[in-house]
Amino acid sequence: MIAKTEEAVDTKTTTDAACNCKEKTGLYEIYKCSICGNIVEVIHSGAKSLVCCKKPMELMTAKTEEQGREKHLPVVEKTEHGISIKVGSVEHPMEAKHYIEWISVIVDGKELRKFLNPGDKPVVEFGIPKDATGVVVREYCNIHGLWATK
Ligand SMILES: [Fe+2]
Repeated sequence: MIAKTEEAVDTKTTTDAACNCKEKTGLYEIYKCSICGNIVEVIHSGAKSLVCCKKPMELMTAKTEEQGREKHLPVVEKTEHGISIKVGSVEHPMEAKHYIEWISVIVDGKELRKFLNPGDKPVVEFGIPKDATGVVVREYCNIHGLWATK
């Protein structure tokens, strides 16, 4: 016999309840908990009321223009099989206390993500179609947040 977990009961209750929320989350939106640091991405849109540590999670808005000394905007170049992405125009630090946690690309209904560790180079290559359009490249710095290049 499988015991029902508390989460399973909560999910069923939420699914069954009529949602009166006027605002919905958007596909690929990223939310962060200001208490514990959890970061989640929306893979199915629902009520805009994500909660963690008993507080509403904050929607992260990607910065699209450089700010400050360090460079964060992903630099995208076409390669033979797809694209190469480097963070940023001057390579971003990859130290234990300050580094790029991941780089992702959204294209043609797919999202590809590479997680990085301190000491790695902030560079990845993804195979995508040569004629791809509407490519969105994002990266997350553990100190300076979410950045995007379109
Ligand atoms: Fe940074």
